[in-house]
Amino acid sequence: MNIKKFIFSSEERHIEKVKFTCKTPSNIALVKYWGKSEPQIPKNASISFTLNNCHTITTIEFEKHQNKTIDFDLFFEGKKKDDFKPKIQKFFERIAEYCPYLYDYKMVINSENSFPHSSGIASSASGMSAIAMCLMNLEKVLNPTISDEFFNKKASFLARLGSGSASRSIEGKLVVWGQHDKIEGSSDLFGIKFPYKIAPIFEDYQDTILLVDKGEKQVSSTVGHNLMHNHPYAEQRFIQANENLEKLSEILQNGDVKTFINIVESEALTLHAMMLTSNPYFILMKPNTLEIINKIWEYRNENNSNICFTLDAGANVHILYPKSEKTEIEQFIDKELSKYCQNNQYICDSIGLGGTIIND
Ligand code: PMV
Repeated sequence: MNIKKFIFSSEERHIEKVKFTCKTPSNIALVKYWGKSEPQIPKNASISFTLNNCHTITTIEFEKHQNKTIDFDLFFEGKKKDDFKPKIQKFFERIAEYCPYLYDYKMVINSENSFPHSSGIASSASGMSAIAMCLMNLEKVLNPTISDEFFNKKASFLARLGSGSASRSIEGKLVVWGQHDKIEGSSDLFGIKFPYKIAPIFEDYQDTILLVDKGEKQVSSTVGHNLMHNHPYAEQRFIQANENLEKLSEILQNGDVKTFINIVESEALTLHAMMLTSNPYFILMKPNTLEIINKIWEYRNENNSNICFTLDAGANVHILYPKSEKTEIEQFIDKELSKYCQNNQYICDSIGLGGTIIND
């Protein structure tokens, strides 16, 4: 797709004042994106489950102004948050060439997350995608002829420029981001819905997120991505990720859970292996991350279960399992694993459908 198609030009209606509220979820990658080039182009394709309960709700009030600058106030959970502003300012500057109407409106942004603040759950995916969706709502009011397909593509395209993984938070249930020869319609510019039929077992997969460490990450994902430049294993890793996506695409269609487990866990450990072998090197896992992984392996062997784990860029553990095993696995988590979490906290989530407009 030609990138110029995303430049807004035809304003068909004049709007003085308008307000939109959007709710968009977080997502968890099964094949990980780690390494990028400018402007936020992934070095390999990735795929994620869209989550349901972990989400951000954002309202943006737009009011026409004449100063032709990007002007906004930002509130998070009811409080003014000037320290979050530079990141959003940078995001708006980055997307302004595609959304020139940003200069025409003063914006008041109100945002809140469903998950506890600084729980170690990345809020950039849900946060950036919620802003992108509000902007697309304004765009659709200014130009009502845009199609739903274009709406989602451009929302994902904009979200990507805020945070790569945010491109995968517009739709559900599985989203691919990054050009891949074997995935029809895939693109480096935006996420697309997994274009093939999903086996029933994966349709309602569960994700329980164990909050092992809620502190600030010592190394941001921006720094981590950058360390993939000149990384000794980077090129091989990018090839491997694309191969894993090809295999996973088959598995998601044929329902082979055992091979799913193998690829997903390998992806998680490889992501962290890339961090361990960067220079400077760093470790985001905590001792309890490893305790939990070992307990999961023990439980799986003893019970012939289909439980498995994945990791994000942090110490928290995402436990993935089929809905049919929910009762036993929730008991196991509560009895055996919650003690490894900060304040015994974990979040029960499952596959979701993507972003929604709450009102307009
Ligand atoms: O979207 P970013 O730039 O925060 O990168 C996130 C990368 C991982 O979460 C570690 C993996 C992924 O694909 O989501």
